[in-house]
Formats: sequence, C-alpha cells, structure tokens
Amino acid sequence: MDHLEINSNIVLIGFMGVGKSAVASCLGARLKRQIVDMDEVIAKRQGMCISDIFSKWGERYFREQETKLLLELLSVKNTIVSCGGGAALKEENVLHMKKCGPVILLKAKPATVYERIKDCGSRPVLRNKASLEYIADLMESRRKKYEEAADIVVQTDHKTVVQVCQELMTKLTEMNIK
Ligand code: S3P
Repeated sequence: MDHLEINSNIVLIGFMGVGKSAVASCLGARLKRQIVDMDEVIAKRQGMCISDIFSKWGERYFREQETKLLLELLSVKNTIVSCGGGAALKEENVLHMKKCGPVILLKAKPATVYERIKDCGSRPVLRNKASLEYIADLMESRRKKYEEAADIVVQTDHKTVVQVCQELMTKLTEMNIK
C-alpha cells in the first residue's frame, strides 16, 4: 500500500459522518500527500467555526466560500482534498472537483452516520434535527448528486479507516489512476 504512487490529487466527497476527514488523514499519511480539509480552511480563514459562519453570515455565504476554495484548489498537486458534505451538491463545484482529481464518494448507511454524529453538535445542517429519520431523508435527497459526481464509490459501514483506505487504493490501482 505504501508503495503505490498516485501523482494527482484525490477528492473525497460524501454525506456528513462518512469519514472523509479521517480517511483523508490516513491516505495523506500513507501516500505522503498533503491534506486540505475544506471546512478547516474555511473556518480558519473566517476566524470562526462552521456553525458560527452559518449563524453569522448564513448558509449561502458558506457555500460561496466552498466554491471559491474549490476554484483555488485547481492549482494544487499531490493533495488529498476532503470536501464538506454539501460541496458536491452544486454543479459548478463538481466541475472544479473533476478537474482537481478523481472524485471518491464515501458512503455509509443512515444508521451508521447517526451513530457517528449523534453526540456531535458541530454540524449546523443537523442542529436539533439529528434523528435517524431526518438523516435518512436528507441523505436520500442528496444521493443522486453524490453518485453523479463520483468516479469511485467506497462503502464504509463496519470498516476501519485503514480498511477504507486500503479498498480505495485498490480501486484506484484497478482503474489505473496514478
Ligand atoms: C455540511 C457538511 C459539513 C460542513 C457544513 C455543511 C453539509 O462538513 O461543510 O456543516 O451540508 O453536508 P462535513 O461533511 O465534513 O461534516
């Protein structure tokens, strides 16, 4: 696994709680690539957490920052980009992602996501609504857009981060993506 050479960027997308950030860290360490976590960059630039950006400036402003950042990321090389869960819902963003590198969709069942995020209050989209039913409905409403954006899909339920990375790297090799 550590000998695999991937020269382009890798773009991770998917619903909240599928493990994009954890998989990005693992892949970055294994492939010795730098990581860009979009939420982290936006929060740092704005000097506040994502929830505060939503409360102070609104979701639309946050979405504009995502698009701006993805445009900037067209010039990075050898980087693992972990996108926020809503980034792949906008056509323009997906066009930028596709130019950046292969787009990997991480998936998980609603129950898995619910277990992972139920005690975490940092996601404004789910604030006071983080029920299994709400997550299932929101995930279903986004499913088509995620799937259309994806070059590779990896299911993450009941897998460790290392297993997900391994599976993803095998798929990249099978597709001859270097
Ligand atoms: C969002 C997902 C979050 C973050 C913001 C909106 C979404 O990122 O960008 O809270 O709409 O799905 P994560 O997927 O990293 O939680």
